[in-house]
Amino acid sequence: MPAGDSFYITTPIYYPSDVPHIGHGYTSVAVDTLARWHRQAGDDTWMLTGTDEHGQKMLRAAAANGVTPQQWVDKLVSESWFPLLETLDVANDDFIRTTQERHEKNVQVFFQRLYDAGYIYAGEYEALYCVGCEEFKPESEIVDGTGPFEGLKVCAIHSKPLELLQEKNYFFKLSEFQDRLLELYKNEPDFVRPHSARNEVVSFVSQGLKDLSISRSTFDWGIPLPWDESHVIYVWVDALLNYATAVGYGSDEETFARRWPAYHVVGKDILRFHAVIWPALLMAAGVDVPKGVFAHGWLLVGGEKMSKSKLTGIAPTEITDVFGSDAYRFYFLSAIAFGQDGSFSWEDLSARYQAELANGFGNLASRTIAMTSKYFDGVVPDPHVYDEADVEIQRIVERAVSGADAAIEAFRIDEAIREIWTIVDALNGYITAMAPWALEKNRVAAENESAEAAATVQSVGDAIAGGDVEVNAELRAAIFELQVAVEHQQARLATVIYTCLEGLRALAVLLSPVIPQATRKLWVALGAEQTLGSLAAQPIREAGAWGKLAPGTKVTSLTPLFPRVESQP
Ligand code: ME8
Ligand code: MG
Repeated sequence: MPAGDSFYITTPIYYPSDVPHIGHGYTSVAVDTLARWHRQAGDDTWMLTGTDEHGQKMLRAAAANGVTPQQWVDKLVSESWFPLLETLDVANDDFIRTTQERHEKNVQVFFQRLYDAGYIYAGEYEALYCVGCEEFKPESEIVDGTGPFEGLKVCAIHSKPLELLQEKNYFFKLSEFQDRLLELYKNEPDFVRPHSARNEVVSFVSQGLKDLSISRSTFDWGIPLPWDESHVIYVWVDALLNYATAVGYGSDEETFARRWPAYHVVGKDILRFHAVIWPALLMAAGVDVPKGVFAHGWLLVGGEKMSKSKLTGIAPTEITDVFGSDAYRFYFLSAIAFGQDGSFSWEDLSARYQAELANGFGNLASRTIAMTSKYFDGVVPDPHVYDEADVEIQRIVERAVSGADAAIEAFRIDEAIREIWTIVDALNGYITAMAPWALEKNRVAAENESAEAAATVQSVGDAIAGGDVEVNAELRAAIFELQVAVEHQQARLATVIYTCLEGLRALAVLLSPVIPQATRKLWVALGAEQTLGSLAAQPIREAGAWGKLAPGTKVTSLTPLFPRVESQP
């Protein structure tokens, strides 16, 4: 995309009644990485996350804890959900809570418009509801209970009994949008990604859509319908509206026009809400549909979808306390193809931390800085003539930049990291092949020989006092050659070390959206801050332009970016 364009991206708004686990953290770091990339590319970027605070689930949890629902959500959000963003180093621009006035008021504006436009009618409803899902369940997700729930109908996802609800509801005419939705999926093949998700949505909508119940009247923890205050708006449609109210829908049309439409990244569990119901609601209200919906896969633990209700939940801090937030981000974003399911295991995390972060990237950084200190007194050397091997590194960097940018455009963060990692691997191979320590050894040897020869010239000169001119000339020629050799080794070493430092400069820029902390440390150690400014200010799509690091800049020592991890849960 051309720089400067609006890039508005969202996470789902999470139910605060669950404590955050690595699944929520996965979505959040993925969206944060995409946002950081675009921000650093100069796009007009906005990242939104937040919490979904209405609904029966919240009401019941609050009652069980003897507090009001508002007290309950306030506590959870401040004790668990704000801290999650710190834990994972997420740089969101905004955080919306559906109990905020900016949301509640404009949700009412939105539904009043839908009502006035004739898309809403009142009707009787009787269906099985799952409070865990906050959803009336379709036939395909209703199964017979077992054990304590023998004889009851249970939710296929939560394995808990469904509740038969019979009440007057308001309905949204979702069924009228089948054709327009199918047309949307057809005209914009990237509206739903990955394509497996798109196919699933197309086949679902092709089977026909039922109208959607959008209100509830048996409890009051929600946003009242403006034309009938005895009903509150169904929690899911209330929640979907957050993406619009957060950027000014109904209140600040200028901001809304600047940001909207958004890209939504969600887990595949909530794909239909985002790819079917949400665009239909927007169409009905005369608002542009989102730019796209990307559904990622599930984190599996022991082969099952990780979830708190199934007791396989792992808190993000369990990982970050041991490995740090960079490792968390890197691991989930690189090890799992974005869009597919992926299995989490401590062994895999630990092995990748050691092999890729500590030995691959961290060690490359440490070695390069250490060699600069040892061979050039810590000053970035001036490169001389570039050999084929050096030019090859420059080409690899350039290719990695465009490859990674294309992968990010396609929301394939894992592929982007793979592209960037070609630089890490190439530089490690380059160091082995160029063997700077051997260049240094040859230089020292030539220098010693030349010094010896010079001493000989001196003593011969002294002995014969201007006598044998020929011996002298031969020795002088040899000294000259040795000095040429010294200079050649010195120049070669400078070019090799500069190539490594420049490669690291590009790596710091390219990896900063994924591992912001380690790259900031590296940026400082490279001395880049002094001449190039802050890491965040480096245009990411130009990271491949060679020769940015200024010779003569002082590097500073670097403690290991990814230290050895001693303990593990
Ligand atoms: O559904 N693997 O909130 P929620 C990967 N409030 N991602 C996972 C995951 C797993 N095992 N478990 C959860 C809701 N997630 C609604 C959303 S949006 C308008 C309203 C992530 O707290 C994933 O992003 O149940 C999933 O879609 C989301 O958490 C569900 O969060
Ligand atoms: Mg859920």
